[in-house]
Amino acid sequence: MKMWSGRFSQGPDAEFEQWQRSFPFDRVLLPYEIAASKAHASALAKAGVLDGHELAATLFALDQIGREGVPEVDDPAIEDVHHYVETRLVELAGEVGYKLHTGRSRNEQIATDLRLYVREQIDEVTRLLAEFVSAFVKQAESAGDNAMPAYTHLQRAEPVLVAHWLLAYVEMFLRDLDRLADCRKRVNVCPLGSGAVAGTILPLDREAIAAQLEFDSPAANSMDATSDRDFAIEFVQTLSFVALHLSRWAEEFILYSTTEFGLVKLPEQYSTGSSAMPQKKNPDALELIRGKAGKVFAEAAALFVSVKGLPLAYNKDLQETQQPVFWAAQQVLGMLRVATGFMTTVQFNYPRMQEAASCSFMNAQAAAAYLVRQGVPFRRAHELIGKAVRLCLEQGCELQRLSKDDYAHCSIDADELFYNALALDEVLAVHNVPGGTAPARVRESLQTAKEKLSQYFGVAHACT
Ligand code: ARG
Repeated sequence: MKMWSGRFSQGPDAEFEQWQRSFPFDRVLLPYEIAASKAHASALAKAGVLDGHELAATLFALDQIGREGVPEVDDPAIEDVHHYVETRLVELAGEVGYKLHTGRSRNEQIATDLRLYVREQIDEVTRLLAEFVSAFVKQAESAGDNAMPAYTHLQRAEPVLVAHWLLAYVEMFLRDLDRLADCRKRVNVCPLGSGAVAGTILPLDREAIAAQLEFDSPAANSMDATSDRDFAIEFVQTLSFVALHLSRWAEEFILYSTTEFGLVKLPEQYSTGSSAMPQKKNPDALELIRGKAGKVFAEAAALFVSVKGLPLAYNKDLQETQQPVFWAAQQVLGMLRVATGFMTTVQFNYPRMQEAASCSFMNAQAAAAYLVRQGVPFRRAHELIGKAVRLCLEQGCELQRLSKDDYAHCSIDADELFYNALALDEVLAVHNVPGGTAPARVRESLQTAKEKLSQYFGVAHACT
C-alpha cells in the first residue's frame, strides 16, 4: 500500500513514479531506519498509542527486518526505505504495522537516518584516519636523525629531518581528526518528534527518543530539524579536507619517487606495471588518490548547490542530498585504506636523502646566521654569503669547500668554527625552536603528536 494515495483520484505517471523513487539508493539506510523506528515505537507505547502487546510485536518484526538486511535487489513497488519498512512490517506483524507512522513524518525520519549514517561514517573515517596517522608516526620514529632537503618553490631550501617532514603531514591529518570530532557534535542532534514541519501531534518523550539513539539532545526547532542538511554538508567538507591532504601527500610521494628525485621507493604492492614498457613501475595508488580527491570536492559542491535555493522547510530536493554523502564517505574510506597500506610499506632512500641534504648550498642561511652571531648585521651577512655562493658556482663547489682565501675575498673571516657551522648536523641543530627541525625539537614534536593521536584511538562506534 502506498503511503499517500487517498486524496488522489488517479495514480502517478508510471515514468514519473519510477523516476522519483529513492529506494534504489536509500535502502543502505535500513539499519538506521530500523533503529529510529524502534525508538519511535517505544515513545508511541509511552504515549498510549501502542499497548504492550503491540509494542512487542512491532519491535520483534522490526528486528526481523533488520536481520533480513538491506535488500539486494530493488523493488519497483517500493518508494523509499521508509515505505519498505512499513510494507515489510505489515507483512510480518499485520495491521498493527500501520500504527507505527502515528505522529511522525518521513521528513523527520530521513533527517534522522542520515544523521545516524553520518555519525557512523565519522567514527569509521576517524578510526581509519587515526591508523593512517599512526603509520606516519611509525615511519617518523624509524627515520631517526636522517635528513633530507626541504623545498620552497620546489627548489632546495634547507635541510630538515625526514621525521620533521613526515610530522608536517601528521599535523594536517590531526587537524582533520579534530574537524571530524567537532562536526560530530552538530551531527549528533535528534530530529525525531519534529513531525512533518511543526512538531509531532502526540506527547512524545523527545528526550527519551534522543537518548535511546545516543543523540546528545533533541533538535531545538522542528522546521530547522526537518530541512537542515548543514550536518551533511559539513561532513562532506570535512572529508574534502581529508581528501585535499591525501592528494597533496600523494602528489609529493609521486614526485619523490621519480628517478629525478629518487627519495621514495614505491612499494610493489601499491604499484602497477605498464603493458607496453617492461621497465615501468607506476604509482597508480597515489595517482588514484589524487584523482579521486576531485570527486570528493565535487560532492561537497553538489550539496551546496542542492540546498542553496530551498525555502523552509522540507522540499523533495533534499532527497538529492543523500548520494553525495554516501559517495564521498565511500571514496574517502577507500582512499584511506590504500593510503595506510602504502604508508606502512613505503621505504625511503635515506642515503640519497642524506646526500641531497648536504649539498646545493642548503647551509647558506646557517652560514649567514653564524656571521650574525659574530655581530654582522643580517642583511650584510646575507649579501656576503650570497657572494660566496656565486664564487662556489663559478668554481663548481660547495660552501664548505671554498678556501679561507676565497672567503677573505668575500670579506668573510672563515675560521674553524665557521667551517664547523656549515656541517649538516650543525645546520640542523641551529633550528632549535619549538616546531623547528633540530633533532631534539623533532623528538619533542613526535612525542606531542603521539599524545594527540592517542585520543582518537578507541573512538566509540555509534549504536544503531
Ligand atoms: N525519500 C524521501 C527523502 O529522501 C523521504 C522524505 C519524503 N517526504 C516527503 N514529504 N515526500 O527525502
